[in-house]
Amino acid sequence: MDLGLKGKNAIVTGGGSNIGRAITLTLAEEGANVVIAEMDEAQGKKVAQQAGGKSICVKTDVTNFSSVEALVATATKELGQVHILVNNVGWDIMKYFLDYSLEEIDRIMKINYLGMVYCCRAVLPHMIENKHGRVVSLSSDAGRVGEFREPIYSGMKAGVIALTKSLAREAGRFGITFNALCPGVTRPEKPEEAGELSMWGKDGAAAAMFTEEVAEAARKMYALRRLGTAQDMANGVVFLCSEKAAYITGQTLSVSGGYSMM
Ligand SMILES: NC(=O)c1ccc[n+]([C@@H]2O[C@H](COP(=O)([O-])OP(=O)(O)OC[C@H]3O[C@@H](n4cnc5c(N)ncnc54)[C@H](O)[C@@H]3O)[C@@H](O)[C@H]2O)c1
Repeated sequence: MDLGLKGKNAIVTGGGSNIGRAITLTLAEEGANVVIAEMDEAQGKKVAQQAGGKSICVKTDVTNFSSVEALVATATKELGQVHILVNNVGWDIMKYFLDYSLEEIDRIMKINYLGMVYCCRAVLPHMIENKHGRVVSLSSDAGRVGEFREPIYSGMKAGVIALTKSLAREAGRFGITFNALCPGVTRPEKPEEAGELSMWGKDGAAAAMFTEEVAEAARKMYALRRLGTAQDMANGVVFLCSEKAAYITGQTLSVSGGYSMM
């Protein structure tokens, strides 16, 4: 199936690591050019080079609106029309609600929700002007079921789903679709697939939490009895970015081996 992505231009936030990296490389395989919006410029540049074509990395902090505006200005200057936005940046540290510091609460809220708000706010006028857009945002099954020891993250990921639906209703008349994808647990297959700021990097919160024992317990909860790969997630995201998904909007797709079914 030709996904109709040849020559399309995409912004992928956090496109240097794990799931974002696989999204970038899969979009590139389908013929799209990708602007990787990354805090970790070195990792983003490495992946942009692997992606080839006109793909570039732009150092960006999605929690800073001026930085996001500069990203969109660079993307349109370098590539012209932006057809696709993937809001992929996310971060978590797993604790009981009362154990979070106020700084940790603030950080989780900003990275997982405010970053998406800012990126949509900056890109939407451009997509409305062009009467075309595909926006796919990474939520989580935590945002659908409310996960144990991920209370702030679960709330923000539920926010990603609700914002997706609201914007799908507001922007549908301009030919713009908004969808959310909920991964299950997705570990990088090789250390070099995770950047230094990744949750799965050597100092990352998820890497420390997700021992082999925890992974085995998770596998048992999944109908397909295996954890997903970054490529499994990218396949779903890239389909939703494609012209074949032009009539799908406001939807939430769990790609989690049957962990949550709704
Ligand atoms: N991996 C999982 O198990 C899992 C499960 C459910 C949902 N998700 C969601 O999927 C998405 C991707 O997860 P992942 O595991 O690939 O993440 P990751 O931690 O491996 O990568 C995140 C990337 O975002 C970049 N980044 C962090 N803060 C940034 C900022 N303020 N501005 C720009 N870039 C920034 C980091 O440098 C890193 O490259 C996230 O939204 C996450 O919440 C992941």
